[in-house]
Amino acid sequence: MKMKIEKVTVYGTGLIGNGWTTHLLCKGITNVMIYLRYEKKIQKSIAEISKNLEFMVHEGMIAESGKEYFLSCLRYTTDVREAVRDADLIIENGPEDLESKRSMIAEIEKYCRDDAIITSSTSGILISEIAKYASHPERIIGAHPYHPVYLLPLIEIVKGDKLDPRYLDGLLDFCRQIDKKPVVLKKESPGYIASHLMTVLLRECVNLVVSGVCDMEDVDTAFTFGPGMRYALMGPYTVLQLAGGESGLAGVLCGPIGKSAEDWMKSFSNWTEWPPEALEFFQSCQTEMDRIISGQDGIHGRNNEELERFRDHGLLHILQLHGLA
Ligand SMILES: NC(=O)c1ccc[n+]([C@@H]2O[C@H](COP(=O)([O-])OP(=O)(O)OC[C@H]3O[C@@H](n4cnc5c(N)ncnc54)[C@H](O)[C@@H]3O)[C@@H](O)[C@H]2O)c1
Repeated sequence: MKMKIEKVTVYGTGLIGNGWTTHLLCKGITNVMIYLRYEKKIQKSIAEISKNLEFMVHEGMIAESGKEYFLSCLRYTTDVREAVRDADLIIENGPEDLESKRSMIAEIEKYCRDDAIITSSTSGILISEIAKYASHPERIIGAHPYHPVYLLPLIEIVKGDKLDPRYLDGLLDFCRQIDKKPVVLKKESPGYIASHLMTVLLRECVNLVVSGVCDMEDVDTAFTFGPGMRYALMGPYTVLQLAGGESGLAGVLCGPIGKSAEDWMKSFSNWTEWPPEALEFFQSCQTEMDRIISGQDGIHGRNNEELERFRDHGLLHILQLHGLA
């Protein structure tokens, strides 16, 4: 029998919890309960969800009356029992730390139904580790969204070693219902796909600067006006398919570029932890970042909030190109 997911609890309301709530509301899931540990955080959470919804109104994605209606539907509680006892699905969005994740899952399991699905938004901790001491690990699933959750469709689905496929199918149906694009990993791997790729990129962004090849602004300019523009539209394999002309992806990988890549790889870092020069760079990078974004060229000369608007407006255009908005 098909699993029914109508009542959703968003457990933890930072950036991702508030993003999840915005997305659920915009996709017609109005039976949403938000769990926060402290009463004093409620106003901040409402303000953020409200700001997200305001953006969707401004961009014509939802009606002004929709925003008011959605906000009136929201329920908040600081009582875990009340938060999870009726839920069909509980989405955990607490801090990225194994021990915290385990204790939050234990707290949820104490009061939720035995057949409720519990997902963790973890960016890359193995779900089998998170679910290791759970009483019902068969319904605990890694479901890694991407920020901003109400605009980016990706959701990486990670199966633990004890997962019951019935719960996986139920979650996948729900993801499609709310217009998410699920990618199910064949096996667990730290960082999954997206954080794995992002971390390789980050490591090399730092490596290029600390080894003196270029400065931070050059990295951003090269990425923004080069590969980033293509990657916004299609994945790295498809990008190479087009770069290879008639011989496609295999032509690139088996040809001179594939061979040259071997030379380029020799200059990559082999860091498995941040070396002292990278840690020193981290201490000074904010001053340089502030200088870059205060510049008047291109997208700069805007504060963080204005940059966010620019990003989100652009993301909506890309969604439209994909037929997803
Ligand atoms: N920031 C991102 O871009 C991003 C993207 C995808 C996934 N994630 C993952 O989502 C999760 C949340 O990330 P975030 O960026 O929203 O973090 P955040 O720091 O903005 O929010 C975490 C929230 O959890 C609350 N919290 C702390 N302990 C809690 C507890 N015991 N019970 C309930 N709530 C508790 C905090 O008050 C805070 O509001 C992390 O696992 C993170 O790795 C983050």
